[in-house]
Amino acid sequence: MVNKENSKIAVYGLGHIGLPTAALFANGGLYVIGVDINKEIVDFVNSGRSPILEPGLDELVHEAVDSGNLYATDDGVEASKSSNIMIVVVPTPIDKYNQADLSAVKSACEYILKGLNKDDLVIIESTIPPGTCDHIIRPILEKSGLKAGFDFGIACTPERALPNNTLYEMTHNARVIGGINEESTNRAVKLYQRITEGEIIKVKDLMTAEMVKLMENTYRDTNIALANELAMVCELLGIDTIEAINAANHHPRVSIHTPGPGVGGHCLSIDPYFIIEIADKKGLEARLIKTAREVNQKMPEHVVKLVIETLDELRKPVKNSKIGILGVAYKGNVADARETPAKPLIKLLIDKGADVCANDPYVPDEIIKSYGAEPVDMDSALKCDCVVLVTDHDQYRRITPDMIKSKAFICTRPILNPHEFKEKGLIFKGVGRF
Ligand SMILES: NC(=O)c1ccc[n+]([C@@H]2O[C@H](COP(=O)([O-])OP(=O)(O)OC[C@H]3O[C@@H](n4cnc5c(N)ncnc54)[C@H](O)[C@@H]3O)[C@@H](O)[C@H]2O)c1
Repeated sequence: MVNKENSKIAVYGLGHIGLPTAALFANGGLYVIGVDINKEIVDFVNSGRSPILEPGLDELVHEAVDSGNLYATDDGVEASKSSNIMIVVVPTPIDKYNQADLSAVKSACEYILKGLNKDDLVIIESTIPPGTCDHIIRPILEKSGLKAGFDFGIACTPERALPNNTLYEMTHNARVIGGINEESTNRAVKLYQRITEGEIIKVKDLMTAEMVKLMENTYRDTNIALANELAMVCELLGIDTIEAINAANHHPRVSIHTPGPGVGGHCLSIDPYFIIEIADKKGLEARLIKTAREVNQKMPEHVVKLVIETLDELRKPVKNSKIGILGVAYKGNVADARETPAKPLIKLLIDKGADVCANDPYVPDEIIKSYGAEPVDMDSALKCDCVVLVTDHDQYRRITPDMIKSKAFICTRPILNPHEFKEKGLIFKGVGRF
């Protein structure tokens, strides 16, 4: 039951970001109602457990629920009525045209609207295109008859924590906050000071806060694309990209990123599209950002090219060859496979007639099967005609040449020493390495 007297904060979306946020506020002494449309998640949280695999989160949720400060519900309207601060942390994916899909944000705001009271504060943590607070969220909330900036506040503080280190980053990273007016900004600053030791950076308005997060992820995506392109040029020239990048990065004003099999996750591979979309609406083609996305999206194709070249050396066609994928998570040591480059890579190999199996110590077998690959243990993957390492999980960093029963190893992350493998007579290639 939602307890009206004690409740203060409602957090909409109990996912990778919303659940730790709710649990941190609850353990910080505030009464928090967690709202999720997924009843299974609600039940999980109310039983004192975290459905998300994230170091320390299970304990934190347990403590919060046990203390009576965290309660989950699927009744978003009741939660809004019972709270005076509502935080929105729902997904903001892209649709098939690479346009922002704000349906979850709109739906959460519709719940909030039905319980919105004077002096409430609505905080948006979801990553959103610039202008969303002013042009989409504000009109929904003002259907209440209350006026934003006068009767109630709006603030935006995009979350920038990294999976697998979420709790540390949420409590130590710098946090950017912008509000519809100074009062909204200051209220949000005061609130987040309860859970973070990190610097809080106040920006002028909602749109600036919205843009900061997109700039950060676009910076990373574009720089990864640059590293990937340099790696492909180095391959053609016979230069070891990693050696060259390490040398270049000794320059005081150079920091080239690391090439790899492509970019995944819920942020880097999506957020740049929000800038492309808004620029387009304003009549500007964001050419560099678009090209960077294309380069990164095409990296799985490049990895397939490496597989074909390698099998050629072994005089084997791709068709009917057994390919073992190591890692389907989009990055090391996480179970998150959203937008992972492993998915298109597996599809491209299957389309070419390969027999693909995959190992991942974190990602559930059902996800691997849904990509068309057979889930296997690491030893089985290492016995295939060609092994392709996609994810830099710690387990894979400990692979030695003796463990590989295959003749060919494509290591798309620079986590193993090529010379050790070549000395043992293996064909060893990487993105920008051979
Ligand atoms: N995961 C990350 O690493 C990360 C990092 C920084 C920022 N973000 C941003 O945070 C936001 C949330 O991402 P996430 O990774 O936590 O998503 P998630 O998919 O892990 O969780 C979102 C949760 O919201 C719930 N939900 C959907 N619609 C809802 C609604 N109308 N009302 C209530 N609950 C609803 C879903 O059932 C789900 O449990 C996104 O905008 C994302 O870009 C994510």
